[in-house]
Amino acid sequence: MTTVIREFQDGDAEAVVALWHAAGISRPWNDPARDIAFARRDPHSTILLIEREAAVAATAMVGEDGHRGWVYYVAVDPLLRDLGLGRAIMEAAERWLIARGVWKVQLLVREENGATRHFYEHLGYRDTRTICLQKVIGENAG
Ligand SMILES: CC(C)(COP(=O)(O)OP(=O)(O)OC[C@H]1O[C@@H](n2cnc3c(N)ncnc32)[C@H](O)[C@@H]1OP(=O)(O)O)[C@@H](O)C(=O)NCCC(=O)NCCS
Repeated sequence: MTTVIREFQDGDAEAVVALWHAAGISRPWNDPARDIAFARRDPHSTILLIEREAAVAATAMVGEDGHRGWVYYVAVDPLLRDLGLGRAIMEAAERWLIARGVWKVQLLVREENGATRHFYEHLGYRDTRTICLQKVIGENAG
């Protein structure tokens, strides 16, 4: 079994977006192609993926904003759950941030996604007891 952890490359988009749809993390208001291009536009963020037998098995978008690290688009192929790939992609994201000097990482979990919350808590993530406020800004609002 060949398993590789690597950064997103040109040509990965179709498989990655298919995985996001299969994992149920795509949202109609988020254009995945735009999100991919934006994450890859400069060295502050990237998309990591686990390739298993030459197929995309897991992803995590990771970046730092000058203060904290953030992780988005964490997904494992539904047929490959409970094999340690979720832990492996999260650890890869944390290593990516540590290599850039980041000492705290955070992420957002939808309130209805209780199972995933427990997965993150199992990996050491703790509820910061804050709420996330968001506003769409600028002329490029999607
Ligand atoms: C959440 C998700 C990434 C977990 O991936 P996975 O490959 O099945 O998880 P792993 O097998 O790597 O599990 C890692 C550890 O977490 C534990 N774990 C997994 N799911 C868990 C859960 N729901 N609650 C508590 N612990 C959990 C495992 O037992 C394992 O423990 P161990 O390493 O100490 O033995 C996967 O279920 C997924 O893609 N979900 C849908 C997409 C999603 O909701 N993404 C997050 C958006 S915020």
